[in-house]
Parts: sequence; C-alpha cells; structure tokens
Amino acid sequence: MHTLEIKDLHVSIDGKEILKGVNLKIDENETVALYGPNGHGKSTLLMTIMGHPRYHVDSGEILLDGENILMMDASERSKKGLFLAMQMPIEVPGVPTADFLRSAINSRRDKPISLSEFYKLLNEATKEVNFPFDMVNRSLNEGFSGGEKKKNEIMQMLILNPIFDLVDEIDSGLDVDAINYVAKALKEEQEKGKGILIISHYARLYEIVKPSRVAIIVDGRIAFEGDNSYVEKIDVEGYEWLESEFNISLKKGSEAKPKVISLGTCAIRKNRAK
Ligand SMILES: Nc1ncnc2c1ncn2[C@@H]1O[C@H](COP(=O)(O)OP(=O)(O)O)[C@@H](O)[C@H]1O
Ligand SMILES: [Mg+2]
Repeated sequence: MHTLEIKDLHVSIDGKEILKGVNLKIDENETVALYGPNGHGKSTLLMTIMGHPRYHVDSGEILLDGENILMMDASERSKKGLFLAMQMPIEVPGVPTADFLRSAINSRRDKPISLSEFYKLLNEATKEVNFPFDMVNRSLNEGFSGGEKKKNEIMQMLILNPIFDLVDEIDSGLDVDAINYVAKALKEEQEKGKGILIISHYARLYEIVKPSRVAIIVDGRIAFEGDNSYVEKIDVEGYEWLESEFNISLKKGSEAKPKVISLGTCAIRKNRAK
C-alpha cells in the first residue's frame, strides 16, 4: 500500500515560519479534505510536499512509501508519483500545452511516447474535462480563462497518472458546469485508488468527491481531524466552533501549541446562522 506521511514539518518562506509542525498521513484509497482559515498554510503544505524551491523546510520529514523525499526536486517527486494541481497555475508563453504534456510524459519513460499514442491520451483527457482540443496548441495557460487553467491541471493529472494527487482549490474560478467535469475526473481518481489531499471551500465538490476524512490547519499546524461529517459543519458554521468547543485559537502567531483534536462524527448546529 502506498503512503504519504508528513512528520513534524516546519517550513518558512523568506525567513518567516509558516508551517509549525505539521503531522499528517494519507494512504492510497483515501481522500483527505484539508481545511483551514485563509493564510494559515494550506497551499504552503501542498507546495512543500511537491518540492517548490521557495518553501524552505526547516525540519521534519516527508515520507513517500517510507522514503524521505525532501532531498528530491519537484521533477523527481513527480516521477515518484506525486502530482500537484496548483491554486494559481502559471502561464508559460512560447511552450505549447501539448509539447509541455508530451515532455512531462517522456521525462518518466525510457522510450519516448509515439505521437499516435500521445494524441490518444491527450484526446481522452481533453474529452474527460470538456477542454477544447484545438487549445492544446496554444501556449501553456497563456490567456486561458480561470476554468481552462484548472481543467488543464486536471488533464495533466489524468495524463501523468500519479499515485497521490494534491489538489489546491481546483474549483475556484470555475462555473458549475466545469466543476462537475473536474469533480467527475477526481471521483474517477478515487475509484482508481489514488490518495488525494484536496483543498476546497466548496461543499458541493465534496458531494461528488467524498472525502474519507477532514483535517483542519490552523496557524501552520493540523489542529483538528475528524470524519467527513465535518464538511457540512464547516460549510454551515465556518471555523468558530474550533474556538468555542475545542479551545483552538484561530489567531495566527499564538504562542500556545494546540494539541491535536481527533474526532469521529460531529453534531451540526441546526439553528443555522445566516
Ligand atoms: N510566496 C510567498 N511569500 C511570502 N509569504 C507567503 C508566500 N506564500 C504564502 N505566504 C504567506 O504564508 C502564509 C500561508 O499562506 P498559504 O499557505 O498560501 O495559505 P492558505 O493556502 O491556507 O490560504 C500567509 O501568511 C501568506 O501570506
Ligand atoms: Mg491557498
């Protein structure tokens, strides 16, 4: 069984500590919904797992199937089976989308993929997310709409066939129709037994891509873990209950290190505040 384990991970950006001891384990066949107030380190965690050079690991471990991957660069991690669909995909003028995808595939093969085989894969991927096929000849993400960029991320995921999918706010900037295509593709990843670590504020996505668990990051630490009933609780109540029920401060930079609360099913307040 494949596992991705993060142990006491401390990460800083430009000298500022953002992650302050993250512990989290994801197995294949599991989807973990990562929640947390804005700016508390969700994207930082995913970028660090993928090996973005800007995010400096001060201490801790990231283990893929028990092997520490911290010394590997992002391309090695990708070859090992990690994939990150970014919150804000970058535009790369001059590099056609199809060429980028073909290079990514070839970098992990001994013999280059044949053009016919590649176009078959590409054709299937574009269909899966309803991405206009003629756009694959345009420069990577250049001038793409928000939705097209996110679909392009999902196409990469489908073509590269990773073991673990890290998915950062894939639904932001998508219309309902596009969300449904993206959610369907992610659901198929679940059915294939992938491990998924996903960030979304959109409970509707989680109706299709049902998480196995919820983990909440507060001030750079996983402060809370629970089952997927917390998706609805967070959707209805936000995060305030962490403070009122569990005494977890939602302020950044508080000195006290919270202990991790780990629970099963929650009770959702019925008197929904509007
Ligand atoms: N490239 C960066 N340079 C400096 N600070 C950053 C950078 N990226 C993120 N941060 C800071 O790190 C903190 C966590 O950000 P992030 O992980 O993006 O939060 P989230 O995804 O939970 O909203 C924020 O305070 C943010 O301002
Ligand atoms: Mg983010």
